[in-house]
Amino acid sequence: MTRSFEKVGVVGLGTMGAGIAEVFARAGLTVVGVEADHEALGRGRGNLESSTGRALAKGRLSEAEQAEILGRITLTTSLEDLADADLVIEAIPEIMDFKRTLFTELDRICEPSAVLATNTSSLSVTEIAATTGRPGRVVGMHFFNPAPVMKLVEVVHTVVTEDGLAEEVADLARRLGKAPVSVGDRAGFVVNRLLLTYLNHAAVMLENGLATREGIDTAMKLGVGVPMGPFALLDLIGLDTSYEVMCVLFQETRDRRHAPAPILRELVTAGLLGRKSGAGFYNGEAPPTPPAAGKPTVTSVAVLGEGAEEFAARLGDAGFKATTTQAATDATEDADVVVALSHTPVIELAARLPHPRRLVGLHLVGEKLAEVASTVLTSPEATCAVEGLAKIVGRVPVHCKDRAEFVVDALLYPYLNDAVRMYDSGYATMDDIDAAMRLGCGYPAGPFETIDTLGLETVRDGLRALYAEYRDPAFAPAPLLDQLVTAGVRSIRGLS
Ligand code: 3HC
Repeated sequence: MTRSFEKVGVVGLGTMGAGIAEVFARAGLTVVGVEADHEALGRGRGNLESSTGRALAKGRLSEAEQAEILGRITLTTSLEDLADADLVIEAIPEIMDFKRTLFTELDRICEPSAVLATNTSSLSVTEIAATTGRPGRVVGMHFFNPAPVMKLVEVVHTVVTEDGLAEEVADLARRLGKAPVSVGDRAGFVVNRLLLTYLNHAAVMLENGLATREGIDTAMKLGVGVPMGPFALLDLIGLDTSYEVMCVLFQETRDRRHAPAPILRELVTAGLLGRKSGAGFYNGEAPPTPPAAGKPTVTSVAVLGEGAEEFAARLGDAGFKATTTQAATDATEDADVVVALSHTPVIELAARLPHPRRLVGLHLVGEKLAEVASTVLTSPEATCAVEGLAKIVGRVPVHCKDRAEFVVDALLYPYLNDAVRMYDSGYATMDDIDAAMRLGCGYPAGPFETIDTLGLETVRDGLRALYAEYRDPAFAPAPLLDQLVTAGVRSIRGLS
């Protein structure tokens, strides 16, 4: 018999819990929101009011509708009020002991037929289920921040989940207007495993001084089209949550890339948790725009590399004396700066020039971004001039060190590689992984769609370059990707 979910409990009314309560109430269900004490309950009420107030202010909700939604939500500090709930979903902090204690209590209080769900970001649903006398009726229901906006819900089943229950919970998610993806119980599930690994990589990159926080955020937004750069997103998710997810991932994989970046621990210890505490990587809601590059003071520019003719022509139109050259020869001798259009490091080229201080690498990404790579020999004046030139050709410059794949591809390719490994492990289908990243994170395309757009060989070669530079085994191309390139396969999605 198909279960009907009409009365739902939400335990924990922080950012996620309040968002989840709102989602259920908007779909017409009766909701009981529980917090530990009156102070936390007050904060939870505030979260609910500000989220629905936002929709009211934008004219998408009338006052009567807002009142109706909030009227479906009863707030309490007593778990006993969940005794007749059909489903209880937990959204308390990511600490296993807290969750186990809570589920033991819920198991005692709720009807034996009730389903207990956890919104855990990465902890083992199986371990949580095992604390109850109904492990078959405990599942993960993982929402994404902001819960009222992001379409995805990961429905997590364990090896002991009752037959058919995951599908019933997926139907419930559809009733809420969400798109469910059904997954097994593995640390980080689909999205956090891929997303948080990438975000952590960005934090490591920042610590290594590859580029600035604003530079990395700008590069990813303009270069990949993601809705938020990694540091703005870490602030949205919460640095404490992100740190905890990384700890759980590392504990399971022992992969060095899953070890939380030290800067995360430092910020969390300092109480800088992101938006929820008012400050994190950024000190406010919106990341500041990077300072504009000054008008270049140079007059003559030598351009080499792929696309040199077109780039030089654009500069010529803008009044510069721009020449092209295919090699680091005399043609560069008289130029104020030498622009090497390249997607690989330019130090070898610089070292062959008579005036290596004048050479700057420039990687044009997509239609809007220019990564400006200075070598250990490049002068600050040359860097500054090339940033200005990038602006003149209509690009936003992001300065970075002269390292393999610079910023965007260095972050993008390992994420794509991780997705290939995830698929190859049999954990999820390509369609599910693509849908999860699009609907859970607002990405313009899923990883397999991106691989097909970029070309399998480009991604494989980029990974090889990253591996050669950093010697991190995780950057070595996934064997499946390597084999597909060798076999001449052009579309990875053609496999599914
Ligand atoms: N609560 C409710 N609604 C919100 C909201 C919030 N906190 N933030 C934004 N919205 C709504 C707005 O009202 C607006 O609605 P409308 O389109 O109907 O007018 C819509 O979302 C777009 O908002 P804005 O125009 O203000 O801002 P943006 O266009 O910049 O979008 C964003 C904001 C939706 C957050 C977008 O930047 C985005 O998709 N970012 C990526 C978020 C992401 O990756 N989330 C997943 C994180 S991982 C996770 O949660 C898992 C966990 O386990 C760690």
